[in-house]
Amino acid sequence: VSSPVRAIINVDVEGPVINRHVYGHFAEHLGRCIYGGFYVGPDSDIPNEGGIRLDVVDALRALKIPNLRWPGGCFADEYHWMDGIGPKEDRPAMVNTHWGNVEENNHFGTHEFMALCEMLGAEAYVNGNVGSGTVREMADWVEYLTRDGDSPMVRLRKQNGRDKPWTVKFWGIGNEAWGCGGNMSAQHYAEEARRYATYCRDHGDNTLYRIAAGANSGDYVWTETLMKALNELGGCGRDPRGIYQAISVHYYTIPGTWADKGNATEFDEDDYYTTMVRAAHTDELLRRHSTVMDNYDPGKKVGLVLDEWGTWWNVEPGTNPGFLYQQNTMRDALVASLHFDIFHRHADRLVMANIAQTVNVLQAMILTDPDTGALVLTPTYHVFEMNAGHQDAASLRVDTLGDLPAREVGGDQLETVSVSASRKDGQVLISLSNLDAADATEVDVDLRGSSVGTVRARILTAETLAAHNTSDSPENVTPCDYSDVQVTETGVRVPMPAHSFVTVSVGVD
Ligand code: AHR
Repeated sequence: VSSPVRAIINVDVEGPVINRHVYGHFAEHLGRCIYGGFYVGPDSDIPNEGGIRLDVVDALRALKIPNLRWPGGCFADEYHWMDGIGPKEDRPAMVNTHWGNVEENNHFGTHEFMALCEMLGAEAYVNGNVGSGTVREMADWVEYLTRDGDSPMVRLRKQNGRDKPWTVKFWGIGNEAWGCGGNMSAQHYAEEARRYATYCRDHGDNTLYRIAAGANSGDYVWTETLMKALNELGGCGRDPRGIYQAISVHYYTIPGTWADKGNATEFDEDDYYTTMVRAAHTDELLRRHSTVMDNYDPGKKVGLVLDEWGTWWNVEPGTNPGFLYQQNTMRDALVASLHFDIFHRHADRLVMANIAQTVNVLQAMILTDPDTGALVLTPTYHVFEMNAGHQDAASLRVDTLGDLPAREVGGDQLETVSVSASRKDGQVLISLSNLDAADATEVDVDLRGSSVGTVRARILTAETLAAHNTSDSPENVTPCDYSDVQVTETGVRVPMPAHSFVTVSVGVD
């Protein structure tokens, strides 16, 4: 057991609100995320509504998913939305060239996606096509989705059975324009983003929040170019935010190389610690992108959106390499909990984050068996569920006394205890991760500025870091109530087993 950590939280000093959208999700037409994941078709034996799997929706409702990004990713820049509306038998098929070279029948399109969002209680985040689309195609999609009254696109929507417009706030102007979204230079994309965004109109009271496709991890020049492009429009009293309101960035946790990323379930301690160092790097990335943005926008009006994050392993043996299907262990859970602590600390600039991806792809919440249809909740799912109380809560700063326990990992220092906290509705929610693979520790939390009311604690851990859930053992890694947390004179004392994640909810005045 390493020596106890002392953490201090002033519960009456509230920081910026943690935007609920940092708990956002991402569903791409990739592998079995949509088809065979969310969508099984209306004729399936699996209980569904309009083809959408009801047990998947039910499980995800517990996470209070705030928004769902769709249809890609790379797929977004080859998706032509008009192929995905109208009677299913008339919808043209296409080849999904990015993901497995499989045929896409377009049976899951705009109406199905909006129905899914309604069932989940999530806001839609639609990612438009810049790479192979046109400005007109994107403008028409916005009109189709959000305009009321009478217009060519409204008539088309009504013909397809939907009278009233939907509300769609989040709108992506292309995806990874530096790569699969068109291999553009930053300058070229910045001009395209301004042009496309100009014609993505606010119809009626539907106000779009346009998100420009951002940098590949540490490409700060990309962010700077997009900020400059916004600033240039700021003259003559014009509000530069009128063009795009946010800039994204993508960063994946990959301990190996792109050619050999590492195995999801077979890894040693070195692999584990390298993973955690790479995950912790998200903090530096967000800080440095924010610093670049601060230069142009000190008032922090332009949002930063991490709309793809998570672990990316080699695919499970025997599965289609283009389907990005991977298992999910206690290690993935700790990658997620560490990310959330980082997100909470960047609440002043980070307005949204979307894990890649919700079902059957990369760091998923849910895995479904292609043969039996059985559904499994992953360890990552449980972190999202345990942390849901942070959504829209005021962040609370956590100060620690002395040095945190740390491990030296290939020249980097990894602090092995991570804590974040927030306050909402008379509750303080504290999230604590012990990232040490082998050593237990203890965190003494001083809660200043309030008396300590009812305490409820939960823990997620497992015998090994590689523990995971399967349809035969769906509860290998599952949270349970944690009675070892003690109330002290000044707060709570939280024993932390090796590789564990704990949430403590405390009633405050
Ligand atoms: O999430 C998988 C892929 O990763 C997305 O399609 C793309 O945007 C990124 O490279």
